[in-house]
Amino acid sequence: MTTPLSEPAPAVLRPHAEDAYARELDALAKGDTLARPPRWNLSPQAVTTYLLGGRAADGTEITPKYIGPRRLIEVAVATLATDRALLLLGVPGTAKSWVSEHLAAAVSGDSTLLVQGTAGTSEESMRYGWNYAQLLAHGPSREALTSSPLMTAMAAGKVARIEELTRIPADVQDTLITILSEKTLPIPELGDEVQAVKGFTVIATANDRDRGVNDLSSALRRRFNTVVLPLPASAEDEVRIVSRRVEELGRTLELPDVPAAQQEIRRVVTVFRELRSGLTEDGRTKLKSPSGTLSPAEAISVLTGGIALAAHFGDGTLRPHDVAAGILGAVVKDPSADPVVWREYLETVVRSRDGWSGFYEACRELSA
Ligand SMILES: Nc1ncnc2c1ncn2[C@@H]1O[C@H](COP(=O)(O)OP(=O)(O)OP(=O)(O)O)[C@@H](O)[C@H]1O
Ligand SMILES: [Mg+2]
Repeated sequence: MTTPLSEPAPAVLRPHAEDAYARELDALAKGDTLARPPRWNLSPQAVTTYLLGGRAADGTEITPKYIGPRRLIEVAVATLATDRALLLLGVPGTAKSWVSEHLAAAVSGDSTLLVQGTAGTSEESMRYGWNYAQLLAHGPSREALTSSPLMTAMAAGKVARIEELTRIPADVQDTLITILSEKTLPIPELGDEVQAVKGFTVIATANDRDRGVNDLSSALRRRFNTVVLPLPASAEDEVRIVSRRVEELGRTLELPDVPAAQQEIRRVVTVFRELRSGLTEDGRTKLKSPSGTLSPAEAISVLTGGIALAAHFGDGTLRPHDVAAGILGAVVKDPSADPVVWREYLETVVRSRDGWSGFYEACRELSA
């Protein structure tokens, strides 16, 4: 039996950036008259527009992917056009992986050449491995070799991504030194090598909270330009980031429509920012900070969870008690110290704040 052509492909849970934003990338490429570095799909200007939002030449709206200082993105894009690799550094949840994916999608049209860094990342997953059936049958040959994402990117002149670089054991990290400085990957077993084609570069991400796992060697650090992604500068920026992503996620997850929950978004962002900075918004009350990072990424999941609760178990409107449990879960990470911090915040700040009594009651119920 053949599948009729009209049958739609099953919807994937999370499409790659180049597929999800194919229309925007296409419109940008068509109207892009500026010079493109070798093998880039777009000019550096157009890559920047893709990341920060704007309009393509034909008027197509380009949604902002990253909300933050323009200069950071310009520096990141310019780095990719040089022979240096790019390291995106920052606390958890500051869009490092997100920016890396979108940069790769815009520059190479492919964000999938990815090595996920862990303590178990082996040299093989950075260089190449062998297909043992082929190897036994025909001996060492190019056919028996299984390429790593890095090797594939080198041969094709594309962007390779390395996630959580500092979780990779130091000796394995050092594999990158030859690749980044010589732009070649030797294959001693075959007396051969893969030389990087123009357009090849690496975007790595690392979390500066997990430091102490495996620091970057200075030899490797010298081969990267580092761009530090900050936490959102203002509450307005953070509300914009969270609103936009919550809306997009709700759409992909096909959550029932919950009316734009601006008031709760603002509340979650306020709680997170106050606890993170250890100071209330009006600058009057000092607070203790909990152990978690309370990043925009966590605010996004608190709200998405809240919307699911409101849609399936509530009356379809996001209410304080739909976000209270999520907030508590994000704040209380260390079971001994954080509950004290939270209770103090609840009693000294939340309790007496105008318009927050419903939220106060919901939190009290949870802690009881
Ligand atoms: N400044 C920002 N602009 C746009 N989106 C943002 C921003 N900050 C955070 N986000 C959103 O936060 C979410 C999580 O980001 P991401 O997973 O890339 O964080 P990360 O820095 O890689 O964190 P980790 O260190 O935990 O890996 C993404 O959905 C992203 O859209
Ligand atoms: Mg990440």
